[in-house]
Amino acid sequence: MAMKRPTASDADGIDALTRRAAATPGLIQLGGGLPSEAQFPRADLADSFLRVLTKQGAPALQYGWPEGLESLRRRIAERLAERGLRGLTAADVIVTNGAQQAIALATQVLAGSGQSVAVDAQSYPSALDLFASHGLRRLPLTSPERAHFSYVMPAVTNPGGGTMTKVARAALLARRRPVIEDDAYGDLLFAGPAPAPLAASDPKRVFFVGTFSKTLCPGLRVGWLIVPPRWRRRALRLKQAADLQSNSLAQAVVDDYLARHDFERRLPVLRRFYRRRAERLASAVRRAIPSWRFELPAGGFGVWIETDAAVDERRFLQAAVEERVSFDPGTGFEAWPTRGPTTLRLCFSLARPTEFEEATRRLARAWRRAARGAPHAGRAREGTLRRSRWIAAPTSPAPAP
Ligand SMILES: Cc1ncc(COP(=O)(O)O)c(C=O)c1O
Repeated sequence: MAMKRPTASDADGIDALTRRAAATPGLIQLGGGLPSEAQFPRADLADSFLRVLTKQGAPALQYGWPEGLESLRRRIAERLAERGLRGLTAADVIVTNGAQQAIALATQVLAGSGQSVAVDAQSYPSALDLFASHGLRRLPLTSPERAHFSYVMPAVTNPGGGTMTKVARAALLARRRPVIEDDAYGDLLFAGPAPAPLAASDPKRVFFVGTFSKTLCPGLRVGWLIVPPRWRRRALRLKQAADLQSNSLAQAVVDDYLARHDFERRLPVLRRFYRRRAERLASAVRRAIPSWRFELPAGGFGVWIETDAAVDERRFLQAAVEERVSFDPGTGFEAWPTRGPTTLRLCFSLARPTEFEEATRRLARAWRRAARGAPHAGRAREGTLRRSRWIAAPTSPAPAP
């Protein structure tokens, strides 16, 4: 079974347990943040592979430019112009190896030693790891101290699946500092399309990051970075130094796929698909472990959960793997150490909804075993979750049609 995301908690053996979970037969995976295989357009991608491989001159097997395939960049620019990035052209787009490389390039451009980055209290673990590798000090997004730059997910946050408030967006722009806007889940806002990106309001300071990993498939590793003009040459030099260019074959396949299929019509289907799963998982958790707090996500692949006891998460994950279910321990997402109840992310994206009841029963058994004797953090109901005041309270989405 596929896995990803070694977390900042590796030293605690979480990574070893996660890998063990992946190799456990019959385990139901509620961790990892992987898209559903059922949504990979396999036959269409196979057609595109064949077509680009047999094309005259085989450009898909040849070297390309560091910024990427022009026709693919044009398609990305056209899509983003529709989202509000007016006037964007192919020349503004760098095709990257997924959103991860786009964040890495933007960070490399912006980071200097001893500098700081503003992040939400819970954030994307591989970005947090990246910032740590640059020696960046983390500051709360809401801190009055001004960080050198910020990293945010305004449309759909990971892990919470929330959306940044208008007030927060305005406050961030008013700081007039660079921002990395990670829109990895932007197309999967359930009530989408997502609002105009921050980059539409301040294209001189906002680096915009996107990806086909969540809406097409992550294996091709095709993402993009829009760099404000004054940093563009530097970003391109760094991209070339890192890997010369993104994979020609993967770019050609995505380009061919986009030329032949209506990607925009695919998105509402995906949003409905994942929203239904979010609702099914939420109901299953409510039934199996009513004392856990969470909010229905507005988009993305996961539900962020606060339990009602402070339990060693390694012990909990070990018990869960023994019960043949997995989850993402919360500390990997926490930007700074916090006291309080154990937290976790449960993903509804990969496992089948028919498995959710069984998965949450297993999780409840593991939780009871792990929490035996742990200090109780008080019983609370859904809706009282601690949440950044920069993230909007979810408005209960209408039932998926
Ligand atoms: C918020 C966020 N940003 C970026 C990425 C990286 O995506 P990609 O597969 O395009 O590198 C992920 C992957 O899980 C993510 O959750």
